[in-house]
Amino acid sequence: MLILSTAASLHAFAEDARRAGQRLGLVPTMGALHAGHLQLVAAARAECDAVVASVFVNPTQFNSPDDFRLYPRLPRADTDLLAAAGCTAAFLPGVEEMYPQPAALRFDFGALEQVMEGAHRPGHFNGVATVVSKLFHMARPHRAYFGQKDWQQVAVVRQLVADLSFDLEIVAFPTVREADGLAMSSRNRRLDAAARAVAPRLHGALAAAAAQVRLGRPPAAVQAQAEALLAQTPEIALEYFAVADALTLQPLAAYAPGRATVLCLAAHLGGVRLIDNVVVEAVRA
Ligand code: PAF
Repeated sequence: MLILSTAASLHAFAEDARRAGQRLGLVPTMGALHAGHLQLVAAARAECDAVVASVFVNPTQFNSPDDFRLYPRLPRADTDLLAAAGCTAAFLPGVEEMYPQPAALRFDFGALEQVMEGAHRPGHFNGVATVVSKLFHMARPHRAYFGQKDWQQVAVVRQLVADLSFDLEIVAFPTVREADGLAMSSRNRRLDAAARAVAPRLHGALAAAAAQVRLGRPPAAVQAQAEALLAQTPEIALEYFAVADALTLQPLAAYAPGRATVLCLAAHLGGVRLIDNVVVEAVRA
């Protein structure tokens, strides 16, 4: 596996692959890789001739300095995992390489980012869109792979691709979970034993709420019940619980028969912020 660290080398790699008629897959990551990332690599390998995974803890998408400082960084383990997974190349740039000058461009995704992560992490999606755009320009992939744990991120990236006419396809894969239901996340490494023990309750609350939505219960009642359930665990500080349209991400004010619905939450456990979601297809009346 090639290890690349400059934009020029990634660009040259991509050009060579395209000239050779290869289809190129990109798996953008922030490292501390887990089975969810490796599922994306496996899918990219199955569908593309060459696969490049990027490992870059992107400072511009963090709105908490502590979250950025404490984000797990395991470049050696990551490159070993990517090589074993059959990646053609890994791209591990430094901050100066990705940001030779501070990015002045500002993205505005409108209503899509005025809810959930966008509302609670100001500037987050601007940072995501900036770095993802840079990666798309550098790697020129035919396909780029993302995990659905970041449901809103996938929606924002799809909007980015449409608005800027990036000539590539976004492929999104369902969240990979631990045996007890906890969504796999690089941040899980930071959970202490007490937080890890109760963390699966996030998915438990989502699953219970999804069952209620399927039965046609009004979103406000579903949300209130989930909030009450999670409030019973003092280690969990819920930041938000949303019942939203799965495409527009706007809150569902009323039960909407047949409308694809996503339930999303963010919560703090022992100083670690986790997100998760469950998608439900509301039952038809
Ligand atoms: O999902 C992530 O890990 C990051 O937001 C991404 C897409 C790699 C951009 O930094």
